[in-house]
Formats: sequence, structure tokens, C-alpha cells
Amino acid sequence: MKCDLDQFRKIKTPFYWYDLGLLNQTLAVVKKESQRYGYHVHYAVKANANERILKTIRSYGFGADCVSGNEVLASLNAGFNPNELVFAGVGKSDDEIKIGLTNNIYCFNVESIPELEIINEFAAAASKIASVALRINPNVNASTHHYITTGLEENKFGINMWEMEDVLKALEALPNIKLIGLHFHIGSQITDLQAFKGLCIRVNEIQQWFFAHHIIVDHINVGGGLGVNYTDPEKELMPDFATYFQVFHDLLEVRPKQTVHFELGRALVAQCGSLISKVLYIKKGVKTNFAIVDAGMTELIRPALYQAVHKIENLTSSLPEAKYDVVGPICESSDFFAKALMLPETKRGDLLSIRSAGAYGEVMSSEYNLRTKAVAYYSE
Ligand code: LLP
Repeated sequence: MKCDLDQFRKIKTPFYWYDLGLLNQTLAVVKKESQRYGYHVHYAVKANANERILKTIRSYGFGADCVSGNEVLASLNAGFNPNELVFAGVGKSDDEIKIGLTNNIYCFNVESIPELEIINEFAAAASKIASVALRINPNVNASTHHYITTGLEENKFGINMWEMEDVLKALEALPNIKLIGLHFHIGSQITDLQAFKGLCIRVNEIQQWFFAHHIIVDHINVGGGLGVNYTDPEKELMPDFATYFQVFHDLLEVRPKQTVHFELGRALVAQCGSLISKVLYIKKGVKTNFAIVDAGMTELIRPALYQAVHKIENLTSSLPEAKYDVVGPICESSDFFAKALMLPETKRGDLLSIRSAGAYGEVMSSEYNLRTKAVAYYSE
């Protein structure tokens, strides 16, 4: 991770800092390792929709995975090919469905029978055939934080296999829908590849079920979810993409001519971003000192929302260490970045780098407390 302290000192904090060199290196590896097996990667735009990041990712020829009409439009603006655009989401609005249809996207990932019916209705009105993949709930445990687990029966996502006979019956009556794929996603920040092995085995069983119903789809979309090393980003500046794709190559039973698609978000962008913040005050607490910084949950909500750990470095102090709660200025007790963290002795004016903020950082920012949106800067 490149860090230019002289430059940092001149920039108004807090700000996002993107290392485009690392992003490019990561994308080059993803391209090489996915192409080895002819896999299609759609970048999950929800992880970071910053225009410069989108354009960089697009330049490697990846597709996009969108979850809103605005993400579809942002992807098209950044140059993504509509033919490589998938549109997922459990609650697509009428306008959003129309955006997908008008722009002739590759595929809608559909989550329920009522949604299939509405897409059919709008497609018919536009004299189009909408291509869809069924998002199936594989009921595989991703062993991750419960807020970002999606592949269990109790989650709101996807269609359960016990509903599938009804889905096939419904499809027979929907002439403006073409079934082209099966879609799965078990959760996010998955670091144990065993979960993806479980997914492959389940997808094979599900494909058998469809085969028994005389259906072979054009593509299988296994979603995203590959996690990153938040505690020690320097040790693992990118995940082990080679082993990840190999798991699918080894275990997923692919039918002739069938393509395999991935929707990676975090794994592509998390490590290239940092949130740089200035220490405003050191306040003495009972058991620890508070380092009150000028960034808050408004710039990076992950610790408050998922108890997520992000490595924090003091870029400007090399004094002996002391213990701090690193907290933001927002009027919420959940507005913290770390508790009881050992940092070099920290004082007002020091610059802290909160690492691995490239995914679900800037894109989840808010103006709560009427905060000004933090600006993004880039190193090549
Ligand atoms: N595909 C689908 C259907 C998804 O729901 C998601 C993420 C992805 C792909 C991309 O997952 P990734 O490769 O980035 O893990 N805000 C949370 C993460 C929410 C993920 C939602 N879905 C966080 O900061 O941890």
C-alpha cells in the first residue's frame, strides 16, 4: 500500500485513499486465474461504485453485477457492456425492471414467482423477451456474520428448492421470460473455502434436479463472497484467487456449453482503499484513552454495523505504544473503529489510516449529522 505522507498532510481529512496500482495488480490476477477456466467475472458494483474504480475494473473486460437501477446506469456509464450485466435484488421496483429491459441487460437474477410475473408483464409490453436466472437458496452455511449470510432458508433471499415445481409451472405461462441460468450466493466475507466446496456440491445436486425435469440452463452463477484479510492486510494484499477458482473447477459439474459466472465485490476492491483520518482529541477514559478522530461511522460503517475489524495504523507517530479506543465524532456509541487497540502514542493532529476500506466503505457512507461527504484521492 503506497502512502505519501507529505501529500496526506495537505489534504483535508477525512478522505478515502485508493491505491490504483494494487487494484490493477489484483484485477490482473483475477483475470488470469478466471480465464484459465473460461469463467466470467461480474464485478459486484455494490462493493464500490466510485466511477474511477468502475472504469478501472471495466478496463479488464469484466462484467457487472448490479442491485439497483442506478447501479445499472452507473455501470453502463462507466462502459460496462449490457451483455455482461446481471441485475439481482429481492425488491426490484417497476422502474428498475424497465431500466434493465430498455438496456437489454444479459440477465435478471430473479428471486420469486411474483417477480417473474411482473418482469414478464413489462417485457410483453415492450415486446421483448427477458432473460432470467433463478436465484436459488442453496441452504449452505457460509459461516460468516449473520447480517451477511444469505444462503440459508430463513434468509429473505432466493427461491427454495421445495418451491421449484411451482416456479417451473409458473414459467410455462410466462412467454416473455426465457430461463437461461441458475444463480446462487451464500454470503459475504467468506474466508474458509470449505463453504464454497459445500456450494459446489449443492449446485451439482440442484442441477441434477433440473436435468431430471429436462432443463439444462446456459449458465451457472455462483455469486461472490470471497473474503479478505482485515486483520493483516499487508500479509495478504489480495485473496488466493488461484485456489478459489480451482475449487469450482475441481468440484462444479458443468454441462457441455454451460458457462460459469462469478459476482466478486469485496475481494477485488477492499485492500486498495484506506480511510485517512486526523486525530482531533485524546480524551482520558476509565480503562483506556479515547482517540477521537475526524472520520466516523458516516465514512465507514462496517465496525458499527457488523463489529468488523479494520487494521488501524498511526502514520505519524513512532512513539512507544499505548491503549486506545479509536472513536468518531458522531452522536452514537456505536461510532467506533476499534476498542482497546495498541497504537504508538497518539496525539492531536496525528494521521490514522483505517485499512481495507475499499469495499463497502465509501459506497455505504451517509450524511448523518449533516456531515460533508469525504472526497476520494488516488495513487497510480
Ligand atoms: N452477489 C450477491 C447476490 C450479493 O448479495 C453480494 C453481496 C455479492 C454478490 C458480492 O459479495 P462480495 O463478493 O462483495 O462478498 N456490506 C457488507 C457486505 C454486504 C454484501 C451483500 N451482498 C459488508 O460490509 O461486509
